[in-house]
Amino acid sequence: MVKILKKELLVPNIHFMVLESDVIHLNAKAGEFVVVRADEKGERIPLNLVDWDEHSISVVFMEVGTSTRKLGCLQPGEMIADLAGPLGKPTEMVTDKRILALGGCYGIGALYPVLRAFKENGNTVITAIEARSSFLLYWQEKLKKYSDELFEITRDGTKGFVGHVDKFLNEYLTKTSVDMIYAQGCTYLTYLVSQTTKPMGIKTVVGLNPIMIDATGMCGVCRVIINGETKFACVDGPEFDGHAVDWENLLTRRHIYINEERQSLSFYECEKYG
Ligand SMILES: Cc1cc2nc3c(=O)[nH]c(=O)nc-3n(C[C@H](O)[C@H](O)[C@H](O)COP(=O)(O)OP(=O)(O)OC[C@H]3O[C@@H](n4cnc5c(N)ncnc54)[C@H](O)[C@@H]3O)c2cc1C
Ligand code: FES
Repeated sequence: MVKILKKELLVPNIHFMVLESDVIHLNAKAGEFVVVRADEKGERIPLNLVDWDEHSISVVFMEVGTSTRKLGCLQPGEMIADLAGPLGKPTEMVTDKRILALGGCYGIGALYPVLRAFKENGNTVITAIEARSSFLLYWQEKLKKYSDELFEITRDGTKGFVGHVDKFLNEYLTKTSVDMIYAQGCTYLTYLVSQTTKPMGIKTVVGLNPIMIDATGMCGVCRVIINGETKFACVDGPEFDGHAVDWENLLTRRHIYINEERQSLSFYECEKYG
């Protein structure tokens, strides 16, 4: 059992949660993730590490189905069933580069430790965060600490650049050159970023979020096709070259259990709220 030390609703549907840590914080590195189980009957879900200190680790999660809904209902002082990590390969570090980092939804939180590591390694970091509307953007001040410049992108034009990441990239990259793009967030965002930068030939690293079960390379559920080769996102990733990902395969596999996921959420809600 692991104690919840803090929980905060960052924006509608996206929570920040601090969890007690005995050892995970000792080995945590930017780009890694943890696996969380809300209760003893719950499924194991992967969540990026967004921060850590000498007694805790923290995550940012978006409520999408039963497991994230269960987590969203828990309060500081309550326990989750278990926590495993750090898992995955850390972000490959570069030095003295000009990096454009993009994040959307939970990926805004996931950017935080990666920006910090990029900055600490002497890179120039330009950050762009995107959401449907300005009320869904968060952590601007935290991200600015490790960014040379911070852009906000909203699809409804309520703040910053108007449009989606593809439009932003097309405009930004005609004026300024960068050595590398890094993107974190939902599959559509990482797909769009990769499709936009591919014809420009700019190195693009993306965090993928396929379905995972054991997260230790044993079950094969998280397999993704990278440059025609099968890789396991939990142990070979979760970050990959966005131009080498077979996106159609990833999007199809992510939706394989959609009917079961919907059923599970309606059972859970009936049980909880009657
Ligand atoms: C390495 C890795 C790191 C991740 N890090 C984070 C993180 O830091 N924060 C976070 O919120 N999520 C993260 N995810 C995604 C997260 O694991 C899933 O959102 C979670 O497992 C969903 O579980 P659920 O039971 O709530 O929803 P499910 O019942 O499994 O899914 C419900 C519905 O939501 C859809 N869905 C599931 N995940 C997403 C998603 N990410 N975006 C959009 N729709 C989705 C499903 O297709 C389904 O239709 C990460 C995934 C991986 C593989
Ligand atoms: S989740 Fe089982 S092999 Fe990656």
